Amino acid sequence: MYNLIRPLLFALDAEAAHRATLYGLDVAHRSNFLHIVAKPPVELPTTAFGVRFPNPVGLAAGLDKNADHLDALGALGFGFVEVGTTTPRPQLGNDKPRMFRLPRHQAVINRLGFNNDGVDALVRNVQKSSYRGVLGINIGKNKDTPNEKAVDDYLFCLERVYALASYITVNISSPNTQGLRDLQEEATLRRFIETLREAQERLGSQTGARRPMLLKIAPDLSDTELDAIAEVLLAAKVDGVICTNTTIDHSSVADDPHGHEIGGVSGKPLFARSTAVLRGMRQRVGNQLDIIGVGGILDGNNAAEKIDAGASLVQIYSGMVYRGPTLIAECVDAIRHQREDTHAG
Ligand SMILES: Cc1cc2nc3c(=O)[nH]c(=O)nc-3n(C[C@H](O)[C@H](O)[C@H](O)COP(=O)(O)O)c2cc1C
Repeated sequence: MYNLIRPLLFALDAEAAHRATLYGLDVAHRSNFLHIVAKPPVELPTTAFGVRFPNPVGLAAGLDKNADHLDALGALGFGFVEVGTTTPRPQLGNDKPRMFRLPRHQAVINRLGFNNDGVDALVRNVQKSSYRGVLGINIGKNKDTPNEKAVDDYLFCLERVYALASYITVNISSPNTQGLRDLQEEATLRRFIETLREAQERLGSQTGARRPMLLKIAPDLSDTELDAIAEVLLAAKVDGVICTNTTIDHSSVADDPHGHEIGGVSGKPLFARSTAVLRGMRQRVGNQLDIIGVGGILDGNNAAEKIDAGASLVQIYSGMVYRGPTLIAECVDAIRHQREDTHAG
């Protein structure tokens, strides 16, 4: 079904296609037609950072920034959905066009810049949604908040989303908010994470239900930077890490008409690098925390490779653009076969 719709969507500008798809999904969901495009959820129970997931394949952050489409996306068969990135105040993001498809490379370049309606709107949307599956909420900072005050933005969002989320992702790895990735620097990260960890535990006691908190990191990190981040994560006892966000390295798409567009590259060209960071992180943290593997999953084998590299769960975004919802069940099946082989072998 998606193969039929895809040429129509690809005739549109990438952001227009994105909006049309989500609108279509909402209509299909409300009219009970969604089963035509989607397969029923596939069960493959998985537990990570204390949360039980019906299957280990989730939707990555950024596709539904405001949780506007949670019911429809939640009906596609994902084991979990991550919404956001959300910021304290609404913001428009960068000027359009700011999202580009590179079909030859099965890639996307985006420089959206955290366009979103603000955390209060996201909270309202989650509250009125009927989705009862595992929900990640991804938080960030406003563009005009200086890095010295960034932690206040994250605390603001953390407090508002805490009780609604199954887990919270702290996003310090988008390349499209100037200076954001500097928060990954060791001394800054240490102070920043300690403050958020204290708030996480305080909110856990206040609400009576502790929520796991994950850090989402960039793929463009050196071995020394990875060493430092792993050390901070372990020292602060962070629940998990998401490897990775989009890359600023455009070398693999330089020959594409859109290859020069400023922004983060996702999709197939990101697979090797994001998987190497995931593997490197697993080697550094041992079994002390769980990792979500994301970046360039375009087929079931890619998903199984992420698990092999040390992920407990995987997420997809660009793969949804190129493959549509059938990719979800394909990834679950590949991970199931991998588990069966591991147990048999
Ligand atoms: C258009 C677009 C918007 C994104 N927005 C966000 C975001 O708001 N927050 C975030 O943490 N990641 C965001 N991402 C990154 C994805 O969550 C994911 O980490 C990345 O795209 C790699 O996965 P993929 O290769 O499957 O797309 C975005 C990606 C794309 C393509």
